Amino acid sequence: MSMEAVGCIGCGRMGGALLSGWAMHARGACVLCGFNRSPGPMADLVAKGIRAMPDAVSLVRECRIVIVAVKPHQVEEVLGSVRDALTADKVVVSVAAGVTLEQLGDAVGGRCAVARCMPNTPALVGQGVFALCLDRVPSQDDRSELVALFGRLGMSLVLPEGRFAAFSALMGAGPAYVFAMMQGLVQAGVTLGFPHAQSRAMVTALFQGASAMAAESSAPLHQMRDDVCSPGGLTIAGVNHLDRCGLTGILVDAVLAADAKGRAMEAPTGR
Ligand SMILES: NC(=O)c1ccc[n+]([C@@H]2O[C@H](COP(=O)([O-])OP(=O)(O)OC[C@H]3O[C@@H](n4cnc5c(N)ncnc54)[C@H](OP(=O)(O)O)[C@@H]3O)[C@@H](O)[C@H]2O)c1
Repeated sequence: MSMEAVGCIGCGRMGGALLSGWAMHARGACVLCGFNRSPGPMADLVAKGIRAMPDAVSLVRECRIVIVAVKPHQVEEVLGSVRDALTADKVVVSVAAGVTLEQLGDAVGGRCAVARCMPNTPALVGQGVFALCLDRVPSQDDRSELVALFGRLGMSLVLPEGRFAAFSALMGAGPAYVFAMMQGLVQAGVTLGFPHAQSRAMVTALFQGASAMAAESSAPLHQMRDDVCSPGGLTIAGVNHLDRCGLTGILVDAVLAADAKGRAMEAPTGR
């Protein structure tokens, strides 16, 4: 059986990160190809074993799964330029924010399956969370293959397109919430006299360690939090302050505010 060929048109930050991630985590499972308008990003990718294609049409002819990672306003033109090379067995996956399945279907002239993928920025370091909308991918084998392919770079989940706004508010914006919390703790460390770099390194390790514990355990998070608080100890003093300030409610409200903004931006009057 021949290996699956996966190609990416647009090899900037996101396209380059996807190809680099697959070069590391899907080696042997697929052939990887890339085409970028300016040749700049390709040298690094070629060094990782990715084939640089001479143009987008050659890439589409070579690859069955075609990722499109150009800016949203460039998607229609790029797909229009390769439309004649698209055959019914191909699957086009766009990572462009806000470009709908309907727009993708129109751009490929209905010639092949189309899918949307919404990554978050940790995808740039191979630890993303990917929402996939596969409503216009009729083959179950193709659906499973896409979930597995993106799952090699973190977590992939299938969502209806109508849930993409909520996903963006929680997971797309999520790194900003986490960085804000990290910033506060780093600042606290500096206030207590730790050099900034040391404080940042410790806080980064704290988030990694706590995330690993949460991922491994099935205990409720509030119980994990309580387990750290010795009776009469210093942790409960800090946690009481968080509760008085309503940290949990603040986080819920932040996500709801982002969701409301996302919906307003999607509404015709919000454009
Ligand atoms: N970066 C993120 O964190 C992130 C997160 C979620 C979604 N996304 C989505 O990912 C997409 C790409 O974003 P990005 O941040 O990776 O942007 P980027 O770094 O600017 O990359 C886009 C790349 O596409 C290339 N390109 C433009 N037109 C092309 C064409 N006709 N043929 C081949 N290549 C072409 C550009 O090449 P030139 O250098 O020649 O212009 C550039 O290298 C966007 O649609 C964005 O919505 C990105």
